[in-house]
Order: sequence, then C-alpha cells, then structure tokens
Amino acid sequence: MMLSPNCSISVCMTRLHGGILSLTFLRVQKQVLDAAGGTGKWTMPIAKCGPKVVLVDVSDGMLEVTRRKIIQQNLQGRVTIQNGDIRKLDFPDETFDMVFCDHALCFIREQKEAIRELVRVLKTNNPLIISGQNRYVLSLSLIQDTDFAFTVLSNEAQFSMRGLLKVYALSPDEFRLLLEENGVKIEKTIGKGVTMPLTMPAEEFYTKDYKPEFLEKVLKIEFALCDKPDALALAGHLQAVGYKRA
Ligand SMILES: C[S@@+](CC[C@H](N)C(=O)[O-])C[C@H]1O[C@@H](n2cnc3c(N)ncnc32)[C@H](O)[C@@H]1O
Repeated sequence: MMLSPNCSISVCMTRLHGGILSLTFLRVQKQVLDAAGGTGKWTMPIAKCGPKVVLVDVSDGMLEVTRRKIIQQNLQGRVTIQNGDIRKLDFPDETFDMVFCDHALCFIREQKEAIRELVRVLKTNNPLIISGQNRYVLSLSLIQDTDFAFTVLSNEAQFSMRGLLKVYALSPDEFRLLLEENGVKIEKTIGKGVTMPLTMPAEEFYTKDYKPEFLEKVLKIEFALCDKPDALALAGHLQAVGYKRA
C-alpha cells in the first residue's frame, strides 16, 4: 500500500481501518446502518460499494457536513441521514442487513443499552462491526500523570477528550463480554493502532507530517499484528466483527 507524501499518522490510520474492513464484504449488504456515523467517513465508501446506508448521529453539526458530502459525491438516494441517539433508535426490530459503529461506543456511558439497540435493529445472523477503546492502552498513554493513569486503568475515573468528552474505555475482555452478553456472536476481534500511542505524544501523533517511508513501516507492523489475538491488548481500538445470535 503506497502512501502519498505529507500524510499524517491519522491518515495512515484511516487507511489501515479501510484495509481491515475489506469492502468486498460489504457488497452483499442491502441496507446498512452507520450508527453514530459522524461526518460520514465510513458511510461514503460503504455506499459507493453498493449498499444503501442510513447514518444516525446526535450531532446536527456532523450531519450537516455529511449532508454536504452526499451532494458533492452524488450519493442522494443511496445515503439517508437522521438525527438520533443510538441508545434509542427509531427503527423497527430487524431492519438492517448490517450495523456498523466505529469510534463512538467509547463516548457512551450506557454501552449496554447502545449494544442492545444496535442488535435489536439488526437482522438475525447478520453482521455487526463495532469498535471500542482499549482502557489498558489509554491508561498507558497517560502515564506522565501516574496517579491519573492508574485511576483510568482501574476505572475509577474517565479520561476526557479535549477536556470535554468522557471516554468510556474497556479492557479487551470487557469489550468481548459486553457484546457476547447482549446478543452478539463474535467472529473476530481486530486490534487497530497497536503502535499508538505508546511511543508518541498525542499532539504530535495527530498533527505531525511523518515521512511516507516511516508510515509504511508503521503500517507493516499494524498489519502484522492486527489480527493476532495475543496482540489485542496492545491496540488502542478494538474492532469486533460479530453476528446477531438467533
Ligand atoms: C469520533 S466520532 C466518530 C464518527 C464516525 N463513526 C467515524 O468513525 O468517523 C463519534 C460520533 O459519535 C456521535 N455520538 C456520540 N454519542 C452518540 C449517541 N448516543 N447517539 C448517536 N451518536 C452519538 C458523535 O456525535 C460523533 O459524531
């Protein structure tokens, strides 16, 4: 996979996510829910693969960006947007052929309610792809303040993103149990970001323009480790692929 010059680590990670979620898998789905889909980062490529996508998000600002993208990319008729809360969705049971929820569960305190609702609107035996934030890695990234890192690790306090959004992170086992106890049969859990953020300060990590050769090496490590179960604990994000149990 070649990377263009001047790309930041976050671009590199987006490519990694895209590589992991093999889009050929999506082609057979007719109607996909992008739950807490934000500005449609995933909705757009999914819709271009064939399925119709409904993006639900609580933020009008995010939805407005998506609305503009739909027009720019000529996806009217393939993408529908709706303001809604994924803890209480406005769809009948068994509506969707696939439910996708990336980088959103970690901002929701009532995670069990959210999972149950995503499972409710998904057709039986159909796929759910969802990610969670790894509390082990998150607490290690805070190690400069050892006391706070320890309270996050032991779940006594939550880290706040930009001082505003609380992050409800889970250990790999807690993530697995949350899904399994709420109607999901997990096929596979993939580790995303095994190289982050242990070695780089977050500020630098998200903004610096790294050399493409360096990013190629990062990606090589990521791909080598992402589907190794014993490397899951290293990953910043845990991405599960599962099915709604009958
Ligand atoms: C980091 S963004 C991720 C967006 C998108 N899934 C992506 O991967 O680019 C998290 C999103 O979750 C949305 N969100 C948070 N809580 C939500 C809830 N209870 N229901 C629906 N959306 C929610 C936010 O508005 C935000 O757009």
